[in-house]
Amino acid sequence: MSAIQKIKGFSDLFPEDSRSFTRMEAVARATFGRYGFGELRTPLLERTELFAKGIGEDTDVVGKEMYTFTDRGERSVTLRPEATAGVLRAAIEAGGIETGRAARYYTFGPMFRYERPQKGRLRQFHQINAELIGSPEPAADVEVILMLQDFLTSLGIADLSFELNSLGCRECRPAYRSALTSYFEALDAEKLCEDCRRRMHTNPLRVLDCKVPACKALVAGAPVISDHLCPGCRDNFAAVLALVDRAGLKYSVNPRLVRGLDYYQRTTFEVTSGAIGSQTAVAGGGRYDGLVQLLGGPDAPGVGFACGMERLAMLMQKPEAAQLDFFLAVTDTREGSGALAAALLLAHKLRSRGLSGECDYAAGSMKSRLRHAGRLNVRKCYILGAEEFDAGQVTVKDMEEGDQLRLDIAAFD
Ligand code: HAM
Repeated sequence: MSAIQKIKGFSDLFPEDSRSFTRMEAVARATFGRYGFGELRTPLLERTELFAKGIGEDTDVVGKEMYTFTDRGERSVTLRPEATAGVLRAAIEAGGIETGRAARYYTFGPMFRYERPQKGRLRQFHQINAELIGSPEPAADVEVILMLQDFLTSLGIADLSFELNSLGCRECRPAYRSALTSYFEALDAEKLCEDCRRRMHTNPLRVLDCKVPACKALVAGAPVISDHLCPGCRDNFAAVLALVDRAGLKYSVNPRLVRGLDYYQRTTFEVTSGAIGSQTAVAGGGRYDGLVQLLGGPDAPGVGFACGMERLAMLMQKPEAAQLDFFLAVTDTREGSGALAAALLLAHKLRSRGLSGECDYAAGSMKSRLRHAGRLNVRKCYILGAEEFDAGQVTVKDMEEGDQLRLDIAAFD
């Protein structure tokens, strides 16, 4: 019988991988804590309408990529494809959004999108997500962007590009959308991919984001949002850029930067790296004024971002495993001697003194066990052979200094 395998696009994180994740989470907690953010953990499963409403029916995420099913109570539920909608739902439900006061939350965890798996793109991936809810100020946008930069720098990740754009607001975006639709209509629409032929009417901004080469070529001459911003959005974006300049962040303005989720207004940003193949975005975010209200909350603005943990892991130095204090090898192989039980109890005593270590149950020569201990990078190797056991002792070999001595097991009581 063949062994059961994991689902395509899902991955297992063994200790050498999860160490990177643990480190990212620790650095995020420390960094975001300095900005007054607190951790919010929301469910993985939400009502489908939360994402359909929040992210937008005509996005790829909602239209093609959600893991949606009917539960046993006949409700349509969805595994979260992103964190923002759930965080806002939780904050609204808890009455935590007071107008005039900013709420700051971060969250980590798995997200689910039925995308075509490739390097850096999974169907279950992990995000570190932060939201600052309640402030319309450009300073809030910049604080969040600086917090993201602070986090990435603290992780030791360099050579990243920050791209910024403004997507306008409810006032000026409709005119830009019409200009885009007119532009695409004037072209030979047959040249666009099937999705974009639909999108050019339903959601023309999405065409700007299409990865199909033919669409990319046509998009090159499309009108840019910066020429269509209303005075309010223009001033707002200028204020954001002025603050980012003063803070010394290196960035570029990309007037074609659109995001895959429909809730963005005004400032949007992405952080990319050329070092991780074709999936270059390691983080993305922006302002989503209007979303809280759309989800049934007060008229509160917000801004936030999410980083892809798998993509960050590719750019980070892999953390080493913590060094173990001991490895306890039982070389007394006499049947029923009781050495194994004595070893287990000795290890238990060592751990109760705060030491970390592994008890060896494997058979094999002394040499191969010491080799294993060497690979484990332990400080001390404890050896319980027949001679030691009969004498109520254990040999302790210092793996760094090389010297060894015998100690009474009773001395560890
Ligand atoms: P997003 O751009 O869809 O934004 O995702 C953020 C990051 O998650 C991406 O930059 C990427 O690193 C990672 N990511 C997305 N999809 C995948 C995938 N299939 N496999 C691996 N990594 C992936 C959001 O999700 C927004 N909720 C961010 C936000 C928060 N905006 C405001 N607040």
